[in-house]
Amino acid sequence: METESSSRKLMEADSAKSPGCGRRGRRICLCASAAVLGLGLLLLILGLTVFKARRPTTRVDSVALDDLDFSLDLARLRVAVNVTLALGLTVHNPNRVGFKYRNGTALLRHRGNDIGEVPVPAGRIGARDTRSLNLTLALMADRIVSDSAMFNDFVSGTLPIQAYVKLSGKVRIVFSIHVATYTTCDVDVMLRNQTLSNLKCHYRTKL
Ligand SMILES: *[C@@H]1O[C@H](CO)[C@@H](O)[C@H](O)[C@H]1NC(C)=O
Ligand SMILES: *[C@@H]1O[C@H](CO)[C@@H](O)[C@H](O)[C@H]1NC(C)=O
Ligand SMILES: *[C@@H]1O[C@H](CO)[C@@H](O)[C@H](O)[C@H]1NC(C)=O
Ligand SMILES: *[C@@H]1O[C@H](CO)[C@@H](O)[C@H](O)[C@H]1NC(C)=O
Repeated sequence: METESSSRKLMEADSAKSPGCGRRGRRICLCASAAVLGLGLLLLILGLTVFKARRPTTRVDSVALDDLDFSLDLARLRVAVNVTLALGLTVHNPNRVGFKYRNGTALLRHRGNDIGEVPVPAGRIGARDTRSLNLTLALMADRIVSDSAMFNDFVSGTLPIQAYVKLSGKVRIVFSIHVATYTTCDVDVMLRNQTLSNLKCHYRTKL
């Protein structure tokens, strides 16, 4: 009998103490969570406005044929060719901080095959600044020595080529944010009069 009642008393005492912090504790809890919420909201607003990372934009200003020499070897169905394409790009960085990009490569492609490349040296574009890049893409003759699709295009008189430029780097706003821009231009080289036509450029940015 006695032991039962004393254990009940113990339980009552426990339940009286247990509702956490009590009234004062609850007020502190409320204040702390309001402060955390407020700080979170402030950071969210700053993140969405001042510190928001924006996508750099790329524009192709010029594509020109610098050099085109070719000779067809009809007996062996081969073509000996030198082609150089000059590409002028401008990259705009809309962020309030600089955009730093790493060493990269620009590629010249023909029907999905890489036929030439040129290094794009690492650089930095200042806050809200624009930078122009002039790239000279030369075809590497050894890669196409026995390419029958290339030979067929030379016989037909139109050589479709593609220039591909990727710039990848980061924008540092509180954290480093990875940014990459991809530029692809398709163009037809009219072999008879050595002109370019059907230039189409596509731009893509990844944040
Ligand atoms: C391409 O250029 C190389 C070296 O610059 C030269 O030896 C070759 O004859 C050229 N080919 C054509 C088809 O002009
Ligand atoms: C970038 O390329 C340059 C020369 O083209 C080289 O000196 C430098 O070390 C390279 N940087 C990186 C990070 O690979
Ligand atoms: C690229 O070429 C254009 C015109 O051809 C010139 O105005 C510009 O300064 C060049 N940019 C660089 C970085 O050499
Ligand atoms: C070059 O030739 C193509 C057809 O092969 C023609 O459509 C184009 O107008 C010509 N361009 C010039 C500048 O003569």
